[in-house]
Amino acid sequence: MKRLLAVFVLIANGDIAHAETAFYKAGQAKSAVCAGCHGPDGNSMMPMFPKIAELDAGYISRQLQAFREGQRQDPVMAPMAAALSDEDIRDIAAFFSAQKRTLDIPAAPPEVVARGEVLFRGGEGVSVPACAGCHGARGDGMPQAGYPYLRGQHADYVAKQLRDFKSGARNTDAAKMMRTTAAQMTEEEINAVAQYICGLE
Ligand code: HEC
Ligand code: HEC
Repeated sequence: MKRLLAVFVLIANGDIAHAETAFYKAGQAKSAVCAGCHGPDGNSMMPMFPKIAELDAGYISRQLQAFREGQRQDPVMAPMAAALSDEDIRDIAAFFSAQKRTLDIPAAPPEVVARGEVLFRGGEGVSVPACAGCHGARGDGMPQAGYPYLRGQHADYVAKQLRDFKSGARNTDAAKMMRTTAAQMTEEEINAVAQYICGLE
């Protein structure tokens, strides 16, 4: 009986692995349309287009659904998501989440990057919580909790998202976690932390 059970578990695990490979392969084929902006491996070369490599598959799926359903708005990205089925989203998320994220070289002087590091690790007084508390000390997020991977993201995109959370234009964050954080940040703090994140090793 024990043996039978072991065989059964083995087969079941094999099926899951097989299905994941199938999603990845299908996603790779479907990702061609995304590559023009996000890069073939999800590491976009243009600062206004986010890197999507290494983002958690669940996070990618939630954002694509939010664009498709109109909860997250962007005149460039929304039409791209509108064309995707649930199956497409599952496959494309499997492909991009398995890619390795590259780092950028911060454009700001070292003292600005250092200021960003202090903010990222420790926050600012009582008003701005430490980013590391949710996004992790190295910025690689906590997928189970829905905190996305940030490390290596283009500074321009990070700063834009912080401004969008601050104004409420982006409201995809559960329990207003990012809106309340960004609401307290000055433009100087937004730019400094964004410069730190893009090169975070
Ligand atoms: C014409 C350029 C363009 C194309 C093509 C494009 N995107 Fe985007 N995408 C964007 C822009 C711009 C944003 C950022 C929107 C914002 O500022 O909120 C974005 C954001 C995203 C995000 C959110 C990233 C994050 O960190 O929250 C995901 C996921 C995404 N795109 C996936 C895709 C997928 C999958 C495809 C292909 C089906 C695709 N995109 C095609 C321009 C594009
Ligand atoms: C209480 C937890 C929490 C804290 C603290 C926090 N974040 Fe977030 N952050 C989140 C969550 C949750 C999301 C995902 C929102 C969503 O699903 O759209 C997010 C999303 C983001 C995004 C968008 C990522 C993307 O790919 O589009 C950026 C940028 C960001 N956070 C930066 C920061 C910075 C900088 C700090 C520190 C000043 C910070 N966060 C502090 C929880 C947190």
